[in-house]
Amino acid sequence: VGDPALRVADTADIAAWWPHPGPVSDKYTRGVVGVATGSAGYPGAALLSLSGALAGPAGLVRYAGSAHEIVVPAHPSVIAAPRMAEAGRVQAWVCGSGLGTDDRAAAEVRGVLAAPVPALLDADAITLLVDGSMSSELRSRDAPTVLTPHDREYARLAGADPGADRVAAAQKLASWTRSVVLLKGDRTVVAGPSGEAWVNPTGTPALATGGTGDVLSGLLGSLLAAGLPAIRAAVVAAYIHGLAGRIAATSGPVTAVDVAAALRPAIASLTRTP
Ligand code: APR
Ligand code: MG
Repeated sequence: VGDPALRVADTADIAAWWPHPGPVSDKYTRGVVGVATGSAGYPGAALLSLSGALAGPAGLVRYAGSAHEIVVPAHPSVIAAPRMAEAGRVQAWVCGSGLGTDDRAAAEVRGVLAAPVPALLDADAITLLVDGSMSSELRSRDAPTVLTPHDREYARLAGADPGADRVAAAQKLASWTRSVVLLKGDRTVVAGPSGEAWVNPTGTPALATGGTGDVLSGLLGSLLAAGLPAIRAAVVAAYIHGLAGRIAATSGPVTAVDVAAALRPAIASLTRTP
């Protein structure tokens, strides 16, 4: 690899960066993550992104969206409200998968962009960003933003396919959007606005099944809420997500629910308990 700004994440990086609670931590100081995903039509996206968020280091997970009545019985530790404005304070937002693209969804995406906290935008939020011409709001955010496109979502944002040089493609979009870009794939690439780039070595084709991206978004949001710099949060989340896919695959064909369940053993295998 000729690019000096390009690194491959390894176990030592992840173990060093993973946030652990200390003796005086409480649920708020560990970080509160807000999840604005799913809808009445796609409640599964809410459940999967929440499963990812619940496995992460944040101390509290809030949900805002129209799947709120489905969320509570499935995840009793989540505090749920129908809209962002009613959700209470959070230290980071995860927004997009299964949200739909109606006016209500667009208003939630605008709300997330306007929030003075780190924000992750995925799936329908990416579509709404482009179709709703929100790029100036995106580019002018002060708090960090993370975009997690697959190839078609990348093409929507960038106006062209990623092409063969996926690192350059992620760097270009990161620079233009002033965001951290996590370009999904066989070897997921993470790029920051200043040109820093990472390749994830843990991916597995077992992850090529519906909803695994939603699990990733929740975990990444929890890491943002816990205070990790956005680029590290993205690198850590991709690494652990890949590992969870591998762990899940040892017991047969994998669903996104299996990947979410395997996040905990993946995290335990990497991080020391204090
Ligand atoms: N090798 C390794 N990893 C892979 C592979 C592969 N061959 N294929 C997919 N992955 C990983 C990606 O890196 C990513 O982490 O699986 C995950 C898939 O995420 P998404 O593409 O977001 O898939 P999914 O969660 O099903 O979301 C699909 O997103 O486009 C929106 O709403 C739309 O319904 C669609 C939903
Ligand atoms: Mg997706």
